[in-house]
Order: sequence, then C-alpha cells, then structure tokens
Amino acid sequence: MELFLLSFAITLAIIINFLFKYFFAKPKEKIPLAPGTFGWPIIGETIQFLISLYYGLVHEFVQKRTNKYNSNVFKTSLLGQNVAVFSGPAANKFIFTNGNKLLIGYRPPSVQKLFPSTSFVPIEHDTKRAQNVISYFLNSKNVDKLISTMDNMSHFHLENHWKGKNEVIVYDLVKLFTFSLSIRAFTGIEDSDKILNFYEKFKIFTQGLLAMDINFPGTTFYKAMKAGIELRKEMKAIIEQRREELLENPNFPKVDVLTQLLDEQDGDGKYMTEVEISDKVFGFIIGSYDTTATTITLTMKYLQEKPQFFNEIIEEQNEISRQMKPRKVLCWDDIQKMRKTWSFVNEVLRNKPVVQGIFREAIEDITYEDFVIPKGWKIYLSFGATQKNDEYFPNPNKFDPSIFEGKGELVPYTSVPFGGGHRMCPGKEFARLLILVFLHNLLKNFRWKAKVPSEKILYPFFLLAIPTDGYPVNLYNV
Ligand code: HEM
Repeated sequence: MELFLLSFAITLAIIINFLFKYFFAKPKEKIPLAPGTFGWPIIGETIQFLISLYYGLVHEFVQKRTNKYNSNVFKTSLLGQNVAVFSGPAANKFIFTNGNKLLIGYRPPSVQKLFPSTSFVPIEHDTKRAQNVISYFLNSKNVDKLISTMDNMSHFHLENHWKGKNEVIVYDLVKLFTFSLSIRAFTGIEDSDKILNFYEKFKIFTQGLLAMDINFPGTTFYKAMKAGIELRKEMKAIIEQRREELLENPNFPKVDVLTQLLDEQDGDGKYMTEVEISDKVFGFIIGSYDTTATTITLTMKYLQEKPQFFNEIIEEQNEISRQMKPRKVLCWDDIQKMRKTWSFVNEVLRNKPVVQGIFREAIEDITYEDFVIPKGWKIYLSFGATQKNDEYFPNPNKFDPSIFEGKGELVPYTSVPFGGGHRMCPGKEFARLLILVFLHNLLKNFRWKAKVPSEKILYPFFLLAIPTDGYPVNLYNV
C-alpha cells in the first residue's frame, strides 16, 4: 500500500511539473542563427571562399559580409558544411579561451586517413602532447644546444647551396634547409641522402593533405597514401634503432623529439604506439618546415622591397656579431637582442598571414553576440580579417613594423599568426629561433635582388602563402 502511495505521489509530481512547464512557464526565447546566407544549394559560397583563399584575400571575403550584416559573425556554407565565420579580437579571444569547452579542432577526411592514429587519439590530446614535447626542447638547459644546431646548420646550408651562386630560387632552397633542420631536430637524422629521400616523400605526402580523399591509382591522394606507408616503414626502423639505443643506455640524451616521444607516458602510464609516434613526428615536420620556409622567403622579399627597414636590421645584426666576439656560435641572449628583426617578421606575418585562419567544430550549441551556432557546425576564424581591419591597424596596407616594437598601441588579440589559447601553435618559439638564426647568417653573408619584381604571392594549395615563382633572386656576397 505504502509503495502504491509513493509511486502515485511521484507520478503526480511529474505530471504537475510537466503541466507547469508547458502551460504556465514563460516560453524560452528562441535565439536566432547568425546573419548570412548559405548561398547556392550544396556548393554554398565555396567557390567565392576558395578563390579568395587562393589569392590571399579571405579578409575581403569576410569584411564584405561583416559590413553587410553589421556583425562579427556570419553564417555561410562551405564544402557542404554549415559554417559560422568569426573575426575581430573579441572573436579571437572567444575561440581561443573557449577552446576545449565548446569547440574541437576539425580534421578533414584526407588528414584522418593519412594519419591513422587520428582514429584513436582525440585531437585535443594531440595538442597537449605536442606542447609538452616542444617545451622540453626549449627549456633553459637545452635551448642553447638547439640554437647552436640551428646556427651550424644555417652556416653549412648557406656555404653549400648559396655561396658562389649568382642566382637562386629562395623558396626551394629555404624549404630544403627548414626540412633538414626539422627532421634533424625531430628524429635525429643527419645523413644528407636519407634527408633528401625523406624530403621527396614528404612533398608527396603533404600534397595529399589538401586533396580529395579519393584513393584510386593516379590521384594525388593515392600517391600521398603510398608515400605515407613508405615513410612509416622507414620511421619504424628508426624507432626500433632508437629503442635499442635507449635500452643499452638509459641515460641516452633526449636530444630530439623522437627520444622524447618514446619516453612519454599518458595518465595511465601507457607508452605511445609506433603508429602514434610516427604520426606525431610527421605532424611536427609538416607543421614546421613549410610555415617557416614561407615566412623566411616572404621576409626576404619584404626586406628587399623596404630598404629603410633593411638598413636598420642590418645594423642590428652587425651589432650582435660585434658583441659576440670572440664567441662564434649564437646563443639565447643574442636572439633576445634581435628585436627589430623579429618585429619586422611579425609585420610580414600581419600583412601576409602564412595561415589565413583556422577551422573548429562546435561540440555544443554556442551563443555568441546574441546568435546561436548549433552543435556540429564548423567554425572558421579569419586571422586576416582582423589583421587587415583599419579599426585596429589605421593604415592596414602600409608596411610598418614599429607597432610590434612597442610604438603605438597593439590591441590584444588583433595579430595572431600562431593562433592562441590552449591550441596555440606549439612550435611558435621554435619557429622564432629558427627564422632569426637563419636570417642572422643570411644577412651576415649575402645581399639579393628580386629577378621578378612584380612577382605575386598566392596560396596555391589554399593553405600557405608562396611567391608564384618561388622568389628567384640575384645573389651578391657581402
Ligand atoms: C612561422 C611559422 C609558423 C606559423 C605561422 C604557425 C602557425 C600555426 C597555426 C596558426 C596553428 C593552428 C593553431 C590552432 O589551431 O589554433 C599551428 C598549429 C601547429 N603548429 Fe605551427 N606554425 C608555425 C611553425 C611551426 C613549427 C616550427 C612547428 C614545429 C616545431 C609547428 C607545429 C605545429 C603543430 C604540431 C600544430 C598543430 C597543433 C595541434 O592542433 O595539435 N608550427 N601552427
């Protein structure tokens, strides 16, 4: 009887609660979607977006719609996906700080297939591990060793590939250098034939990342998958050899990322599988060599086009060389003195963002500026639209590094070439060291003049900025 009364009371309470919610409670306000249009059926606004991506004009695509809808977020449809496009410093801050709560990184299908570990490693886990590994590499005990490797390799590369030449294609050579350095730092490989072999395979592998994932003989994606299998086989041999070395000598120095990864355990004390380690190393190499090669090439192009800044930078680098004597190899303190040079590079990255923006996916409904972005929608955060906004950079097309030297006010979250928050590029500091060390060696020994003064900078694979001819120059020894 008591049981019956109890169940009756519970049922009654549920019914009353239901009636109250649906008949008496104030109806919940429906939050609107962001303004904008989904464009044409299926293709949406993909064509306009890809064209602007290719010409490095995504900021115009975004600004046009931001002005039209008078909103820093608008909806569109790209590659068959509903997308909310964000811009402005508040949006940057929102996306960076809400990183893991509301959003996850988005891996396109081609990336998922080329990196098999993505099927069992969550993307957020990935970033944290990458940051751990790199921070070890850059701690105060190890950083001077890394800088001296960068310095010696820059010197060696310039001696072998630039010295005595009247003309060079800058992007091709710099890419070979940044690749050689990255593979050495991440895997310990030093043998130049082995490096060249990896380099050729990596070029094919990287092309697949942005291709349609059609795995059929002859397609770009098929060739990339094949290159991936070969690269993984070679990595397996390197991993096995390193494991043996570590077994023989437990104090083997953690001189490269690979040794670090072999030593990394997750919360449950589990080590990474070979597939995971190879994917991580490949991720580091891909994240590193093209971005830094592009940045160095663009910096050289801007330097030559802006003689007033060029002279100041030469002066800064000469002063560092004078103060170093009798020491020959660069160290951390020298890098800290390269302030004008790094400001110049920052202004290059503001003007021509190497990465124009990033994609995320909403893992729950997100409310932003009175609009809702439904769960499952993709988010595109445009760096370029903010970096070229005259509200924050009064003359956005004028090249002026002084804002990065503390002259004038740099509004926080306006120039974010490396992203921000918990998913910020883990290689930011590595990139700064690599770029500055290479520029120091270059400026000490060479001057150059563009062979194609009107050469355009495009984004041929929709990803990175590249001068169309690879920036061919006439070279002069100092
Ligand atoms: C000028 C050079 C570089 C630029 C402009 C750059 C920019 C970026 C940006 C914008 C992201 C995406 C961040 C996000 O999704 O919020 C990223 C991610 C990444 N970068 Fe860099 N990067 C550079 C150099 C490097 C270097 C040298 C390394 C390796 C040492 C590296 C490794 C990575 C990795 C592994 C990721 C993926 C992180 C993750 O989401 O798990 N990057 N980078």
